[in-house]
Amino acid sequence: MAVERTLGIIKPNALNDDVLGKVITHYEKAGLKIAAMKMTHLTKEKAEGFYIEHKERPFFGGLVNFMTSAPCVLVVIEGDNAVLRNREIMGDTNPADADEGTIRKLYAKSMQANAIHGSDSQTSAEREIAFFFEKGEIFTRF
Ligand code: CMP
Repeated sequence: MAVERTLGIIKPNALNDDVLGKVITHYEKAGLKIAAMKMTHLTKEKAEGFYIEHKERPFFGGLVNFMTSAPCVLVVIEGDNAVLRNREIMGDTNPADADEGTIRKLYAKSMQANAIHGSDSQTSAEREIAFFFEKGEIFTRF
């Protein structure tokens, strides 16, 4: 299996609910390693740029407001098949449809305040990691 990197964002509602450590534990229990991590309070410009593909969607403004409402934690996650594996442990975007035991089932409040983001493909992961991290900020243990 290929070692991949993917981007996770632990969103404001998860930090407000003090479940940062619990979310990180889900990654670790899934065998995924943290290759980089930082806490940041996203600016409007940065949130809009990150979610640019959703610019025309009706939820875009609300999503940007939510993502800038409090700090987030950005993580580069690394491991075998990391993009897909991370999506499995995150659960469905809509917590109502998420499987039992997934991060969103446990910690999401709504579609908007859905606790975490994870890249949806290797192409997205490359763009999203580069959007937030310099190469020298990412460490590997493989
Ligand atoms: P995320 O994985 O961060 O990628 C885009 C985000 O848009 C998604 O998680 C949700 O938080 C949000 N989103 C997607 N669809 C909707 C929707 N119908 N209503 C509100 N927010 C949404």
